[in-house]
Amino acid sequence: MSKIILFLLPLLLYGGSDLYSMGKKLYFAKGCNGCHGISATGSNLYPALAFRRKPFLIYKLKEYRAKRGNTQQSQLMIPFASELSDKEIDALTTFLSDYHENKSNYKMDTSTRGDGGS
Ligand code: HEC
Repeated sequence: MSKIILFLLPLLLYGGSDLYSMGKKLYFAKGCNGCHGISATGSNLYPALAFRRKPFLIYKLKEYRAKRGNTQQSQLMIPFASELSDKEIDALTTFLSDYHENKSNYKMDTSTRGDGGS
């Protein structure tokens, strides 16, 4: 039995960092960058997501997925969350809370918004 655990441990550890890159891909594939910015810093209209606490991000995404939102602005966000699986939410929030992309990329990026670059 302990052999199985020893075998699984590296997979779990590897799986952790892989979740980050999966989240990064999803962030751009799902168009989140279109509103929240290529560095997830948000803008005057959209909240910043990078470096936020993971439990908070998960909570918000699940609320939107369940079509619950307490502001009119939430209506913009709900369609983008409604298709997400639990696994995708886990990956996206890992990427956003652990955010460690090139720091020179970390700036308000209204001019380059939506070009899909990373
Ligand atoms: C059409 C623009 C748009 C897109 C695309 C979009 N969002 Fe949002 N998002 C918003 C707006 C507007 C809010 C603020 C809604 C509110 O006030 O409840 C928001 C809020 C959030 C929040 C809660 C942040 C907070 O501080 O309350 C999270 C988390 C989030 N978005 C994640 C994502 C993810 C992940 C994606 C891609 C799957 C995405 N968003 C795509 C517009 C967008």
